[in-house]
Amino acid sequence: MNILTIIGARPQFIKAAPVSRILRTHHKEYLVHTGQHYDENMSRLFFEELDIPEPDVNLGIGSGLHAEQTGKMMIALEKLILAQKPDCVMVYGDTNSTIAGSLTASKLNVPVAHVEAGLRSFNMSMPEEINRILTDKISNLLFCPTVTAFEHLHREGIVKGVHLTGDVMYDAALYFAEKAEHKESVLNKLDLEPKSYLLATCHRPQNTDFRETLSAIIAAFIESDETIVFPAHPRAKSFMNKYGLLEKIAATFKIKLIEPVGYLEMIQLERNAKKILTDSGGVQKEAYFYQVPCITMRPETEWVETIRDGWNVLVGSDKEKILQAIAGFSPDHKQASHYGDGKSSEKIAQILGRVE
Ligand code: UD1
Ligand code: UDP
Repeated sequence: MNILTIIGARPQFIKAAPVSRILRTHHKEYLVHTGQHYDENMSRLFFEELDIPEPDVNLGIGSGLHAEQTGKMMIALEKLILAQKPDCVMVYGDTNSTIAGSLTASKLNVPVAHVEAGLRSFNMSMPEEINRILTDKISNLLFCPTVTAFEHLHREGIVKGVHLTGDVMYDAALYFAEKAEHKESVLNKLDLEPKSYLLATCHRPQNTDFRETLSAIIAAFIESDETIVFPAHPRAKSFMNKYGLLEKIAATFKIKLIEPVGYLEMIQLERNAKKILTDSGGVQKEAYFYQVPCITMRPETEWVETIRDGWNVLVGSDKEKILQAIAGFSPDHKQASHYGDGKSSEKIAQILGRVE
């Protein structure tokens, strides 16, 4: 089968890495990078470290308002899909690159395969919720990472082409954790002892874009007694700058504000953290995979299994709740196997083979 894959943002590079590797043993893949993420450490680094094939084309769309960014992607993708005539367009997750790809392909009557289908936060103020609901509605093959995701689709009446494959991020976590062990330790570089620090990430607009929420989060980091390693997403960095929070961080030694790191260094930082503070979808799961307690700075999550099992707690952007969780949150339950067996990518490649 000729598959045209569309990726553009950091988590999509990580998800595509294991899938692409296996897909190419069964099928022909044409890889499109929309250019949504473009900084060296938000894009190129992942292709190099994770052996993702060089994209056949980078559309170079870059940042912009939602309609502007999505619209530019669609205009470029339409021409490309018409020229390439793929049997199927494959999209990942819930970003603007996802909806641009799925909407363009479905209007051209090209079948759409959605990896990470069925996730729901039930919060329509999130751009991701809009992107994923619409993409699921117009996809022909829907690869669900969890039973919860599978059930969401059934409840919405989406039953055709739905497959419970497990989570390709778990495949990536298993495969690259081994490689991360052989990489020079980022802990040495940062002068950190294992289990002596917390790891933080933050990039959701509901946290970063508003002075009140971002200030509350940073105030909690500053007031806690812990060393906090904070690889800042460019979105967070630019709003911390706008709201005068970078100076406050610089005035404390406890917060190690660093540039975004590559995936292998991120795995090292995650595995050795005492706890993880995050609003990221991927990082919440990785905390669970590596059995690190997770404090999620959101009012809800799509990864409800991690909450049910007691390894993740929701604190929103409430300073006191964040501080309480830093001091007191401690999982006391066993984990279960919610994310598959590490062979989700293979299942996806096989299913695509069956519909050929
Ligand atoms: C996007 C996704 C989000 C995903 C996240 C992963 C959408 C609507 N959002 O959010 O679902 O969780 O990626 O990281 O698709 N920027 C840079 N350099 C870059 C990329 C971004 O400086 O390489 C800055 C720009 O100022 C840009 C801002 O970050 O305006 C936001 O980037 P954008 O891709 O629009 O959204 P993310 O917040 O990254
Ligand atoms: N990640 C990384 N370096 C960083 C921060 C995150 O490699 O500095 C990885 C992280 O391990 C996870 C993925 O990026 O696999 C999550 O991406 P992000 O938080 O940007 O998006 P989300 O998962 O929320 O969509």
